[in-house]
Amino acid sequence: MTPYEVRGKVDYDRLMEEFGTSELTVELASKLEKKCGKTHFLSRRIFYSHRDLDKVLSAWEEGKEFYLYTGRGPSGPVHLGHLMPWIFTKYLQECFEVKLIFQMTDDEKFLYSEGMNLEEAKKWAYENSLDVIALGFDPKRTEIIMDTEHISLLYEIAIKVAKKINFSLVKAVFGFDSSTNVGLIFFTSLQAAPAFLESERRGEKIPCLIPCAIDQDPHFRIARDVAPKLGYPKPSLILSKFFPSLSGANKMSSSSPEGSIYVTDSEEEVARKIRNAFTGGQATIKEQREKGGNPEICSVFQYYFYLFEEKDSKLMERMKSCKSGELLCGECKSELIERVLSFLRDHREKREKARDLMQEFVPEEFRD
Ligand code: TRP
Repeated sequence: MTPYEVRGKVDYDRLMEEFGTSELTVELASKLEKKCGKTHFLSRRIFYSHRDLDKVLSAWEEGKEFYLYTGRGPSGPVHLGHLMPWIFTKYLQECFEVKLIFQMTDDEKFLYSEGMNLEEAKKWAYENSLDVIALGFDPKRTEIIMDTEHISLLYEIAIKVAKKINFSLVKAVFGFDSSTNVGLIFFTSLQAAPAFLESERRGEKIPCLIPCAIDQDPHFRIARDVAPKLGYPKPSLILSKFFPSLSGANKMSSSSPEGSIYVTDSEEEVARKIRNAFTGGQATIKEQREKGGNPEICSVFQYYFYLFEEKDSKLMERMKSCKSGELLCGECKSELIERVLSFLRDHREKREKARDLMQEFVPEEFRD
């Protein structure tokens, strides 16, 4: 796995081992929850791995500040899987009352996607920003950096980073080869830059914490290697699993639109996708009543687990009644459709209002 390709079924423990990230232990998770309140993202190990999370937290306890950094490669409309780490990021921002830098890498998606022209990538950067703002980030503490527009903020940091990285490293880390365009070869330097931006701006070492899905770790592994050479603190990471696909594969991917629910999907599309979802149900109602369903492999159950049933007791109830054959897949899907639609209606309303708020999220150097 690299940030540019997730292949096959994901073994999250192996991934953690391969990448060399640490397990987010129960102790560390409860330390966070004690300060910030309970969240199913931690108790269910959806965020399950980290790098130096303990360090930022201990430093915080001693009065040392930090900021949050995350981002999005705007390649099209966002789906629920994209929103998940951002919702968790908001939980962290509300808890610590810290700054968030959100990077929109329109340049990355332009460079990466064969069929995408720059105008399109920029359009998606704007559209996706509306989704970010709709989640309710604090405008006083949040800035959205659009790479192509605000490049002057990042460029000097990026070239300092780039000078410390050679081609053979990015080949090995991202699976690039001699046919890869040179823009992509440089790109990781730009994704590293926001992790150092506050230190640069303030002229002192300000640590940052990056909440993101684990496939982004390779970028930050490089950023962490380079950091001390440039006098920056190493960024810390808190890493999540992937939001499940409705088709049963375990990443909701933009390349399988039927497995993902987009914020732009019509209500009919949402209902159809959930109706067609892969479940752990039996072939007939009779069999289901007798043997019960199999929530462990069910993508509908995964939806409740990841985002649509935050209460543990309710989730357990659902699991039991599924396993006992009492709850049929049809009912379980209907309930999920209702929950997803109500979430989306609310999100879309906030998303429309976000158009007027855009200006408040522009980086301070670019405000008039
Ligand atoms: N490369 C990421 C993507 O393709 C976008 C991104 C930029 C990002 N900076 C980030 C993601 C920081 C997580 C954290 O989606």
